[in-house]
Amino acid sequence: MAHTALLLLLACSPFPRLHTLQLNQRPIIGILAQETLDADHLLYGETYIAAPYVKYLESHGCRVVPVRLNLTNDEYERIFSSINGILLPGGSSNLETSAFAKAAKKFYELALKAFDAGDYFPIWGTCLGLQFLVVCTAGKNLLTNTDSENIALPLNLTNAAASSKMFQKFPPDVYKALSNEPLTANFHHVSITVKAFLENEKLRKFYSILSTNHDRKGVEFVSSMEARKSFHRFRNSQEERAALIYNYSPRYVPTSSYIQIYFF
Ligand SMILES: *[C@@H]1O[C@H](CO)[C@@H](O)[C@H](O)[C@H]1NC(C)=O
Ligand SMILES: *[C@@H]1O[C@H](CO)[C@@H](O)[C@H](O)[C@H]1NC(C)=O
Repeated sequence: MAHTALLLLLACSPFPRLHTLQLNQRPIIGILAQETLDADHLLYGETYIAAPYVKYLESHGCRVVPVRLNLTNDEYERIFSSINGILLPGGSSNLETSAFAKAAKKFYELALKAFDAGDYFPIWGTCLGLQFLVVCTAGKNLLTNTDSENIALPLNLTNAAASSKMFQKFPPDVYKALSNEPLTANFHHVSITVKAFLENEKLRKFYSILSTNHDRKGVEFVSSMEARKSFHRFRNSQEERAALIYNYSPRYVPTSSYIQIYFF
């Protein structure tokens, strides 16, 4: 979880429906690909998913489906109704105009629509993913530059954290360690500041701040916001097998900080 301090689950409602109390024993989570920007890596593929995100979800008992860019609305809707959530990874795609942002927005809209119909679909955003969600919810880019590149920080957890989906089940010692020790890695040069967050009604109404941090210059930014689960499934096991990330092999990329990357 200390992949980066910028973590988010999309919280739609504090009232789980009854069926949400069932346990999903076979969660399958999508990870959204993004455009390959590193010129050295373009020869491997135009889009990629860094392998650590796959391992991160696997280590929590999920299987993973790569969600490719530039699919049709129908294709995205079909994937949406087959998977139990989506992870929007870190990276450096444009937050409004990239194919990454367009696909992410589709899932965001489908998640809201599903929620209105009594269903729910969690969206997790790490770093770029969180930044995308902030821009998407606010309807404009409220991010500002911060001096928060390559720095490990303890989380300043808010009162909302203790009862949040994200943190409530943390063992007390881990919760305490997160607050006291520099366990979260920050690799971002823009942030949503606490001030900008609180000044924006859309953000204030949609998310609760779970933790904050200060950058090297003392600017206070939101490091986590809030959370949820789903019973979507693929139509049959054949379709499920064909969609899983295990049909692909990650490539060893020693020049990347990710070390292993899936290219498409
Ligand atoms: C996605 O579509 C855009 C616009 O048509 C195009 O510029 C881009 O190269 C496409 N990217 C991929 C990975 O297919
Ligand atoms: C922690 O956050 C609170 C507001 O939630 C703020 O008043 C306090 O100054 C912060 N402390 C640190 C060490 O950042």
